[in-house]
Amino acid sequence: QISISARIGNETFEHPFVNAAGVFDETKQEMNQILNSEAGGVTTKSATLKPRTGNSKPRYANTELGSINSMGLPNQGLTYYLDYIEHNQIDKPIDLSISGTSIGDDIAALKAIQKSNFNGLCELNLSCPNVVGKPQIGYDFAAIAAAMKAVFSFYTKPLGVKLPPYFDLQQYDAVSKILNQYPLTYINTINSVGNGLVVDADTESAVIKPKGGFGGIGGTYVKPIALANVRAFRQRLNPDIKIIGTGGVSTGKDAFELILCGADIVEVGTALQKEGPEIFARLDSELTNLMIHKGYHQLSDFRGKLRDNQ
Ligand code: DOR
Repeated sequence: QISISARIGNETFEHPFVNAAGVFDETKQEMNQILNSEAGGVTTKSATLKPRTGNSKPRYANTELGSINSMGLPNQGLTYYLDYIEHNQIDKPIDLSISGTSIGDDIAALKAIQKSNFNGLCELNLSCPNVVGKPQIGYDFAAIAAAMKAVFSFYTKPLGVKLPPYFDLQQYDAVSKILNQYPLTYINTINSVGNGLVVDADTESAVIKPKGGFGGIGGTYVKPIALANVRAFRQRLNPDIKIIGTGGVSTGKDAFELILCGADIVEVGTALQKEGPEIFARLDSELTNLMIHKGYHQLSDFRGKLRDNQ
C-alpha cells in the first residue's frame, strides 16, 4: 500500500503536487480546474489589495527547455480570492498567495486575512521579479528581516514565504538565520530565476515585451537551482519549517529528486502551463511507480535523505 500524502501546517495534501502560484490560478474557473484534477490542492495567483491588469503583452513565452514571463502580477484582487475560498465546495487545501508591491501593502493584506474567517495556508511572495521599479525583497536581507518582524507582530495564522533562488551559500545562511526566529509554517523555494532574457534570432528581438525582454525563467533550465535551494534550506531551517519545492518539475522523477533534497510537497509551474491540469494524474502515477520500483511506501521513507557521492 503506497501513500503519497503529505502535511503542511494543519493541511493534508492527499497528493503532493500543486500548481505553482501564477499558473492556472487567476480566475475561479482555472482554480476549479486544478481542484477537479488530481492535484493535491490549489495555490491562488498572488493577490494584491486591488485588482491589477499586469504588464503589457506578450508577457509569457514557452521555450523548448522552459519559459520566460513578465506577467507583472495580473490578478483579481484579494477580496476575489478570499471570496472564492469561502465559497469553495471541494475539500482540498487552498493556499492563498499574496504579493504586495510594497511591504506596507503586504502588511495591509495580511491584516485583512488575519481578520477574515480564512484559517488556511497563506503564502507571502517575497520574490516577484517583474514589477517595474520594484526590486525583489528576497534579495534584500534587511528588508526580509523587517517584513518578518512586522508580520509576526500581529499575524497568527499559518504563513509561508515564497523565496527567490539564491546562488551563494552565505545567502542561505543569512536568510535561514532570519526565518528561524519566527513561527513560519513553510518556505516555498524557488520563484522564477529573475531577469533572464530569451532572444528570437529570426526577428532579432526579445520574445517578451515588458522591461526590454527581461523576465523570470522557469522550467527545465532551473531544476538544479531548485534542488540546491531546497537542499540548502533543509540543511539550515528549523525542522518544523516545511518546504514546498518548486522549479523544473515535469516528471514524477523530478519530484522524487526534490523530495529527496527535503521538499514536503512539490509545485508545478511551466510544465502545468504547457500540459494543463491533466499533468497532475501523470505526475501522481509516475511518482507512485518510481516508489514501487524502489520499495518505498511513503514520502517520508526518502524525504531529505539525499546522500553525498563518496
Ligand atoms: O515569475 C513570476 N511572475 N514570479 C512572481 O512572483 C510573479 C509573476 C508575475 O506576475 O510577474
